[in-house]
Amino acid sequence: MLRSLFLHLSRAGWARRLASGRRARRAAARFVAGDTLDQAISAVRRINAAGLSATLDHLGENVTDRAEAEAARVDYLMLIDRLAESDLQAHPSLKLTQLGLRLDPSFCLENLRLIARQATQHNAFLGIDMEDSSAVKPTLAICGQLRSEGFLNVGTVIQSYLYRSEADLRVLLQQGFHIRLVKGAYQEPASVAFPRKQDVDANFDRLCRVLLEHARDCPAPAGTPQGRLPAIAAIATHDETRITFARRCAEELGLPHHSFEFQMLFGIRSDLQRRLADEGYPVRVYVPYGTEWFPYYMRRLAERPANVIFVLRNVIRP
Ligand code: FDA
Repeated sequence: MLRSLFLHLSRAGWARRLASGRRARRAAARFVAGDTLDQAISAVRRINAAGLSATLDHLGENVTDRAEAEAARVDYLMLIDRLAESDLQAHPSLKLTQLGLRLDPSFCLENLRLIARQATQHNAFLGIDMEDSSAVKPTLAICGQLRSEGFLNVGTVIQSYLYRSEADLRVLLQQGFHIRLVKGAYQEPASVAFPRKQDVDANFDRLCRVLLEHARDCPAPAGTPQGRLPAIAAIATHDETRITFARRCAEELGLPHHSFEFQMLFGIRSDLQRRLADEGYPVRVYVPYGTEWFPYYMRRLAERPANVIFVLRNVIRP
C-alpha cells in the first residue's frame, strides 16, 4: 500500500511542488549528496578516501521540453570534464528520459552520443540507468545503437522484477555490455513484472549467477578500453541475503574478488558498504545530486516504509 502511494507520488507534479520547501529538502539530504556538482564531488572525495568508488547521477528524468534535455546534456559534459581533471574514482550514470527519450528517441540518441563521445575521449565509463518498463525497449535499442557505432564504454541496468530480463541480460552480455543488476524501483503491472517479492529475489539470484558466470568466462570484452572502467558485472543491492548468494556463487566459480563489484546507494547501509570493502570487494556508491530530487526520493521511501518515520521527524522538527 505505502509502496504504491510513494511510487504514485514520485510521478505527481502537485506533490513535487508541495515538497519544494526547505524541510522536505532536509529530509531528502540523507539520500542526496547536495544540490550542486561541487557538493557531489566533495561526497565522492569522502567515499574514495574510505576506499570505495562512486557513480554520479545528476538527478532529473522525464523532461518535457528539448531545452531541459539539452541543459542536462551540458551538465553531463561538464561532469565528465570535472571527473577527468580530477583523480576521483567515479563515472557518471544517467537516465535517458532526462535526455529527451519521451520527446523523440533520435534527439535523445544524439544527446547521448555527444556525452558518450566526450566520455570516450577521457577513457571514461558511462552508466545508463533503467527506468520504468515503458522505457526498457527504447533504452536497450539506444544502447545497442551506440555500441554498434563503436562506443564500448557504455553499460546499462537489468531489473530482476521484469519477466523479460533474463533474455535481455543474455543478449547484452553477448554484445559485451557492462551490467548493473538491480531488483527494480518502479511501479509495474503483473503483466510485465513479478508481483511477489520472493520471485523478484529468486530471479535476482538467477540473473546474478548468469552475470558471474559471464564474468568468469569473459573477464573483459575484446577491444574494451581499460583505465577507469568498472568491473563488467555489478551486483547492486542492499539485501544481505542476495549479497551472500553472490559471494558464495563467486567463490564456487573461482572468481577473484576484483572480478565484479557491489554497488549501493548513497545514504543506505554505509556499514555494509564499508564491511564489504574491508573484505576486499570493490564497492561503488551511487551518488545522486541536484535540485530534481523529488522522484528519486519518493522511490527510496517506497522501498522502506520505516524511512517515513525518519522523514516525519525531519519535517516536523522546528
Ligand atoms: P530490498 O528492497 O529488498 O532491501 C533490502 C534491505 O536494504 C532492506 O531491508 C533495507 O535494510 C535496505 N534498504 C533498501 N532500500 C532502502 C531504502 N530506500 N532506505 C533504507 N534502507 C533500504 N532501480 C532501477 O529500477 N533502475 C536503476 O537504474 C537502478 N539503479 C540502481 C543503482 C544502484 C547502485 C542501486 C543499489 C540500486 C539501483 N536501483 C535501480 C534501485 C533498485 O532497483 C532497488 O529499488 C533498491 O536497490 C532497493 O532494493 P534492494 O535490492 O536493496 O532490496
